[in-house]
Amino acid sequence: MVKHSFTTEAQTNLDILILAAGLGTRMNSSLAKVLHRLGGRPLIAHVCQTAALLNPTNTYVVVGYQADGVKAAVEKESGNDQVVFVNQAEQRGTGDAVMAARSAISRASSTVLILSGDVPLVSTEALRALVDQHQAANAACTILTVRLENPTGYGRIVRDGAGGFLKIVEQKDASVEERQIREINAGLYCFDSEKLFAALERVKPTNSQGEYYLTDVPGMFRGDREQVSIYQHHDVREVSGVNTRAELAEFENLLRRGTIRRLMLAGGVTFIDPAHAYVSSEAQVGRDCVIHPDVHIEGGSILGEGCEIYHGARITDSRLGNRVTIKDHCVIVDSDIADDCIVGPFAHLRMNALMEEQAVVGNFVEVKKSRIGRRTKAMHLSYLGDATIGENTNIGAGTVTCNYDGKHKHPTVIEDNVRIGSDTMLVAPVRVGSGAVTAAGSVVTEDVAANTLVAGVPAKVKKKLTEEPKS
Ligand code: UD1
Ligand code: CA
Repeated sequence: MVKHSFTTEAQTNLDILILAAGLGTRMNSSLAKVLHRLGGRPLIAHVCQTAALLNPTNTYVVVGYQADGVKAAVEKESGNDQVVFVNQAEQRGTGDAVMAARSAISRASSTVLILSGDVPLVSTEALRALVDQHQAANAACTILTVRLENPTGYGRIVRDGAGGFLKIVEQKDASVEERQIREINAGLYCFDSEKLFAALERVKPTNSQGEYYLTDVPGMFRGDREQVSIYQHHDVREVSGVNTRAELAEFENLLRRGTIRRLMLAGGVTFIDPAHAYVSSEAQVGRDCVIHPDVHIEGGSILGEGCEIYHGARITDSRLGNRVTIKDHCVIVDSDIADDCIVGPFAHLRMNALMEEQAVVGNFVEVKKSRIGRRTKAMHLSYLGDATIGENTNIGAGTVTCNYDGKHKHPTVIEDNVRIGSDTMLVAPVRVGSGAVTAAGSVVTEDVAANTLVAGVPAKVKKKLTEEPKS
């Protein structure tokens, strides 16, 4: 494999530190901010995934508020299994958060790239450029900045008369003139690790919030005649933080629009109304699929080519083959649907429901942990749970697999070419042999032999059928 030049020498000296210990008061939530979801995944998972792409020596995540939840989110949802967690006992500011990682990051003279758990969409390219500039300049610190139309809430970059860096001033501590400054600190920086920790020892919480500010360090460097470098970035959205639910919704919209645009232009997918379609960035949607309004395609769902998904369907972590039709208002979770199947309207497939080619599951049918064979149909008002159903079988309206005895779940097996009459109750565990027929209203409590007609409550054998029942 050819490695990016960046991933060789200089880069062996890179550690990444992600700050994620705060509550995020402005979210007005009992859930830690970095656990709020964007594109279906927690904010922190996005940042850890980006960090992994930079191939650092180590990645540290500072946790505190809801530490267990944050750790679990990183471990399960970021795909980054190289993370070392550092605990910040009390959330006393970003400077204190970095200090909490001091003994973990014991390596002298490495570059520490600091990221914020609440800046989820920053690209690896921007971060690479930041690290490259920092290492090439051999700076004590390099700050990623952007110019914003509305800089409210951010730390401002104060420059001296010659345009050189002077200090960062936080919104709450800024003078009226300083608040006019449009250039802001994005909360993404590189530091020389030794100089960083030495300076942090001198940071005092003497500011309007009584916090230890990481943002005091670059100003201190300037006083010490250490080099502070600025990396100006132009993509404002990419480096913006999520501080409120309104900002989170804007990010969601941005991500969603990007995904749908990519699917339309590069993927050949038709959206009837792109403004009202919701597709996760990890989902795959095949060519010539048609997606109607208010459809949600979530998680790592994969749709083959030429599928049509009608209004209001939700498809989560499921796989659809080619030419599958999902009619209005279906819910499909953790399921597999093969080519040319038809589902819905108002069907619910979950927990490994599996439909083989050309199977049909219709109106108000729920399928749980069951296999529906090729060309088999369950058109109306049924519950099929823990069932294995063969090919060319017809499940009549109102059929129920009675799979639960109050303590345990039991399996139902229905073989090929079976006709289950309307309103049949299949009391599991039970097996219906191939070519068998149950009459309408049967309550089947015992296995039915192949090519047999049963009827009644409880169902009794009525007659032996010929090998090939007429259809
Ligand atoms: C910070 C910067 C500000 C910058 C902005 C960019 C400081 C003092 N200010 O402000 O200059 O413009 O980010 O987004 O750094 N955290 C901890 N422990 C703490 C406090 C915070 O881990 O004790 C984490 C938070 O979980 C968050 C990150 O640090 O992920 C940033 O904290 P936040 O409170 O959002 O800082 P801002 O006020 O946005
Ligand atoms: Ca923030």
